[in-house]
Amino acid sequence: MREFATFEERLSAWTTEAMKSIFDLGDIEVNLGVSPTNNEKFGDYQCNAAMVLAKQLKKAPREIAQQFAESAELPDFVKKIEIAGPGFINFFLSNTALADYIQTLEKDPNLGAEQVGEGKKVIIDYSSPNVAKSMHIGHIRSTVIGNAIDRLFRFLGYDVIADNHLGDWGTQFGLMLVGYREFVKEKALAESPVEELERIYVASYNKSKEDDSWRDLAKAELVKLQQGDEENRKLWEKFIELSIGEFDTIYDRLGVKFDLYRGESFYNDRLPEIIRALEEKGLAKKSDGALIVDLEEDGMPICIVRKSDGGYNYATTDLATVESRIEEFDPDRIIYVTDERQQLHFKQFFTIADKLEMKANLVHVWFGLMRLPEATFSTREGNVIKLSAMLDEAEARALKMVKSSSPDMPEEQQKDLAKAIGIGAIKYTDLSQNPQSLVTFTWEKALNMEGNSAPYLQYAYARISSVYDKWKAQFPGTELTDCSIRIEHEIERRLAVKLTRFPAAVRAAADNYRPNIMADYLYDLAQIYSSFYQNVPFLKADKGIRESRIRLCRNTARTLKQGLELLGIETRERI
Ligand code: ARG
Repeated sequence: MREFATFEERLSAWTTEAMKSIFDLGDIEVNLGVSPTNNEKFGDYQCNAAMVLAKQLKKAPREIAQQFAESAELPDFVKKIEIAGPGFINFFLSNTALADYIQTLEKDPNLGAEQVGEGKKVIIDYSSPNVAKSMHIGHIRSTVIGNAIDRLFRFLGYDVIADNHLGDWGTQFGLMLVGYREFVKEKALAESPVEELERIYVASYNKSKEDDSWRDLAKAELVKLQQGDEENRKLWEKFIELSIGEFDTIYDRLGVKFDLYRGESFYNDRLPEIIRALEEKGLAKKSDGALIVDLEEDGMPICIVRKSDGGYNYATTDLATVESRIEEFDPDRIIYVTDERQQLHFKQFFTIADKLEMKANLVHVWFGLMRLPEATFSTREGNVIKLSAMLDEAEARALKMVKSSSPDMPEEQQKDLAKAIGIGAIKYTDLSQNPQSLVTFTWEKALNMEGNSAPYLQYAYARISSVYDKWKAQFPGTELTDCSIRIEHEIERRLAVKLTRFPAAVRAAADNYRPNIMADYLYDLAQIYSSFYQNVPFLKADKGIRESRIRLCRNTARTLKQGLELLGIETRERI
């Protein structure tokens, strides 16, 4: 647990107490919150207590605020309060309190973020590609956004289980089995397994369109697989293994790790039980040989839970998955990250899970599609953009940038840096926008050194870090902590205030499942830093002031690094 109180907490407690002592609030429990302002004109924190209490006190909010401002004795960390608008109370923190607080944050491994997730378990179901199919652009978004949510929740102390719900079951495996035996090219399979498996599937599928006996054969092989036939089972396992192997290469490059790889097939045994439960509760009924759940009352189309041929559906598997997750993990929340096209699916099965009285807090985080203008990729084959090709291109473009900006750097280091920048650029483009908006990806934007991009922040981080090294070289023998932080200049104050807002940004990004809130915060922080850097001298300032400024620099670097890490973006000290 955090051992110190934030300004927000201190102000809330103080306001509540002060209000109680000035006004007769009876025995009504009040907890008057304050929130950070987003315009320094209105101070650092704002409180709407006067509006909240107006009815109860039968007074105009402004009058309450006025009386409060006149009678309250300010705590020492508040310099002044002001009344604004209909009765807002604005708090201006004292500079010494701010400086002290930054020094307190320095010692906190969580940079002031309260461990609100302690003791809570969250399963995050993300990436979840389908076996024997290349990961498409939707899966990269799910992977990158899901992973950022994963990191944000872990940072807040939640016990996170990252679960890759692979699509490893379904009728397509009948065609895969017969297709493999007929069409496989071992060499291609060794070189590029998923691509080869995909080719096999397409060839087999096309053949089934023209050849009924082929289709029958595929069906028969599927049934054998479902009944546990050893040979088919082995081949199916091979498809999975090959696919995971290739997915893992991508996850490695992206710095993404899962705790579980539980494919849909893991839940097969539970499917009949789900159907039975639905029937027992009178929730499922027959329709043209299929079994459906009527969701008309809930304003949704019917949901098929068992097809007329006896096969189960996506929703049935997801219901079984929830049941299994509750049994095994008893999570406080299950978060699913997929593209927007699956919204109805999730709404439907969440509703059915609720009707089945499954005790789980289910959340679907959906994102819009990423648009890739023509000509974005030089290595575009057909219509499919292979994820690995996208990552290759990002690294190649970043390497060019690095070679021209740091020509003297050893080549190994240039490559390592290019990797961090290229992958970071792709991730940040994805993460810096509201997930639900349509993202248009262009290299110009992703790699823009001047704009809101990963390389901009990575360069800023490296530059900020190097200030400390310069100071160290120029003034050996002193420690920064020998001098305390002083906040005198207006820009120092702005930077300090921004640093204290990091925990709020983490919370807002996690609570709303919107990593872009963190990206916005980091971009703002980097910009404030840059005007700090331009407006006041560092190394040339007088002793004391100089150390204080370097110390603010270090805090900025640390916050940037931590924030980028929460987005899954790597930093390097040297650029
Ligand atoms: N495999 C699915 C797809 O590729 C995504 C699965 C998402 N998770 C889930 N539990 N339904 O579209």
